[in-house]
Amino acid sequence: MTELGGYFGLELRDLGNGVFHNDAISINSARNALDLLLRSIVRPAKMYVPYFCCHVILEPLKRQNVEYEFYSLSDSLLPELSINNVAGNDLLLYPNYFGVCDSQVEEVLRQFGSQRVIIDNTHAFFNRPQESEVSIYSTRKFFGVPDGGFLYPGNHEVVEKIPRDHSINRCEHLLGRTDHSAKHFYGSFKEIDSQFSQLPLASMSKLTESILCSIDFEWVLRKRRNNYEHLHSKLNVANHHNFLSGQFCYPFCNKLAPELRNFLLQHEIYLPRYWPDIDVGKLSPLENSFFEYTLFLPIDQRYGHKEMEYIGDLIMGYLSKHG
Ligand SMILES: Cc1ncc(COP(=O)(O)O)c(C=O)c1O
Repeated sequence: MTELGGYFGLELRDLGNGVFHNDAISINSARNALDLLLRSIVRPAKMYVPYFCCHVILEPLKRQNVEYEFYSLSDSLLPELSINNVAGNDLLLYPNYFGVCDSQVEEVLRQFGSQRVIIDNTHAFFNRPQESEVSIYSTRKFFGVPDGGFLYPGNHEVVEKIPRDHSINRCEHLLGRTDHSAKHFYGSFKEIDSQFSQLPLASMSKLTESILCSIDFEWVLRKRRNNYEHLHSKLNVANHHNFLSGQFCYPFCNKLAPELRNFLLQHEIYLPRYWPDIDVGKLSPLENSFFEYTLFLPIDQRYGHKEMEYIGDLIMGYLSKHG
């Protein structure tokens, strides 16, 4: 019997849908999902990782002493590599960039074979893997949770028992933003974010799991898709990218993006950079267009029609004056 009575904990309603990826292994971050894969399931001779990616993904490779080599992306966002480059014992990591690369993911799996590929679905939480596909996920990129990740090990079996994490020290920015404002707790968010590099591999905490169990995933996905379509209908004419649907953010590419970023910041619209630590000199023209000239506009479940109209109108208004 669990503890009964006494004071209340955080009020969360279990909707009965589990954590969405109920068949996956629950971990405390995406990079630790990769760590578990490398240390207890597959040991590649070499791993091919995209140059254009979040470099924290290299942390598990370094920890597990796995040799790696960078690859560039072609104009269609596919690895500039052929199957002949990737030897039998090598693995290739391919991210579903900004959740708009479903067809590229299919092509990579077709070209290289699911045994040789790991799909990084950090930006595509709602994608479920095909059978035998190995994939990793990060929950805090989609929801207000302190941490969390998933690993689908494909045809491999994981026997290693891992301890459970506790998230209590990673909640300040979540609670703070709810009670105050985002800018008051941005420092706290950055501090907690930086601690993920040292986060020991563990399974998902009960707190993160309980928050996930309280989320109406269908509603979230519908909101995200609708918001994406809404922004696309308003901004498509000025967008040099043309991805018809998405679930993570709306990638808006325009030569005035650097100025627009500052303009939106003045209106307290905060946009992320993907990825700030990258050495720009090594980027291909397409990668550079994502790095320098693409704004990643929010489409998440916190927002609806009103916010999409507001962002769209601000951008189109700015472009009509300065474009
Ligand atoms: C594409 C991508 N993969 C993986 C990660 C790492 O996720 P986590 O912080 O859950 O380890 C990030 C992090 O920002 C990312 O952008």
